[in-house]
Amino acid sequence: MKRLLVTGGAGFIGSNFIQYVLKNRQDVELLVNLDLLTYAGNLENLLPVQGDRRYVFVRGDIRDRALVRELFDRWTFDTVVHFAAESHVDRSLLEPELFVSTNVLGTQSLLDAARDHWKTEPGNKYSRAYRPGVVYLQVSTDEVYGALGPTGFFTETSPLSPNSPYSASKAGADMLVRAYGQSYGLPVNITRCSNNYGPYQFPEKLIPLMLHNALEDRPLPVYGDGRQIRDWLHVEDHCAALLAVLERGQRGEVYNVGGGSERTNLQIVRLLLSQLGKSEDLIRHVPDRPGHDRRYAVDSDKLRAELGWAPRHSFEQGLEETVAWYLANPGWVERVVSGDYLAYYAKMYGPDA
Ligand code: NAD
Ligand code: DAU
Repeated sequence: MKRLLVTGGAGFIGSNFIQYVLKNRQDVELLVNLDLLTYAGNLENLLPVQGDRRYVFVRGDIRDRALVRELFDRWTFDTVVHFAAESHVDRSLLEPELFVSTNVLGTQSLLDAARDHWKTEPGNKYSRAYRPGVVYLQVSTDEVYGALGPTGFFTETSPLSPNSPYSASKAGADMLVRAYGQSYGLPVNITRCSNNYGPYQFPEKLIPLMLHNALEDRPLPVYGDGRQIRDWLHVEDHCAALLAVLERGQRGEVYNVGGGSERTNLQIVRLLLSQLGKSEDLIRHVPDRPGHDRRYAVDSDKLRAELGWAPRHSFEQGLEETVAWYLANPGWVERVVSGDYLAYYAKMYGPDA
């Protein structure tokens, strides 16, 4: 893992991953971040690595097949870490086509480029030989498994049963990755992670949205009865899991990543309010999300046993640190909410870029 293509690196998890890799892996020679800078991409998340000579930013679309091939030609990557996606369930209910286009076709564009550039006998259509050490990692989600009842866990062999256009598009992408592994022998991995929290998360997602509203004494919109359960993991623990798979994973395998920290949405909201010293009167129950998955819980035994990974953050301590980060960075949230962060790109690369 010396020359990485990271897609979607200006988003929440991708930007945390880039910072984590450049800080912890000095043998990485090059890391190219390909990001379209949709509403969810923010270059401000990457200011800490801006001066690192190993880091290159390219604004572009993963669906632009010519661009992706040109990047492979120019930089000879040995590793692809694919984060770029439309990632918000509520938006997928409003605009499903965009999710299929970005999440499915975007994945296929990357898979095709990786297969064609990494094959050692490109003229031989039956050859399954690739350059040594190359790997394509698909960053997927536990949502592809659908919803659980009050007991049980998702394992890597649970059937895929997605319930939203978002999770269906991620499941479609996972199936393509699997098929490129099976049909072409491409060295692939898929990780399926539970809900992440931590710094730089866009305030449309539960934790930063509730935090932001509470700080402004605005109502906290809890969907339905608020007793839906998610399994929370600190984003840094997710980054460590991705590195474990890249460095020690068995190619062709799927690895679940979970925090073992199941909480109801109401528990999260109440904890946030108490950490901020705000009243629970701010909680408002609003109509439920259509097709709302009741419970997610991930069995990560395979990742723990085979690759020696374990989360380092307890949920309560991780959430406290996250609240502290948002309180220390009010300007970041303000610029995101006002859309001002888009002006940063224009300032940096010019108004026509
Ligand atoms: P995010 O929405 O914060 O970031 C997505 C990034 O992708 C943005 O920077 C955006 O500009 C970029 N992007 C979107 N369309 C693009 C395109 N066509 N070409 C290039 N770049 C494009 O997402 P996130 O929360 O950081 O999630 C990252 C990945 O991890 C996603 O694939 C998501 O499905 C997966 N995931 C997220 C979570 C979570 O809790 N957030 C959990 C498990 C898995
Ligand atoms: O499980 C992994 C997934 O986690 C990722 O694949 C997705 O990219 C990521 O967005 C996240 O999906 P969720 O739908 O679980 O996250 P979200 O933050 O949107 O919602 C978390 C829970 O909180 C969910 O049960 C819906 C509820 N919720 C959310 C919002 C935004 C509310 O009650 N009110 C809200 O305003």
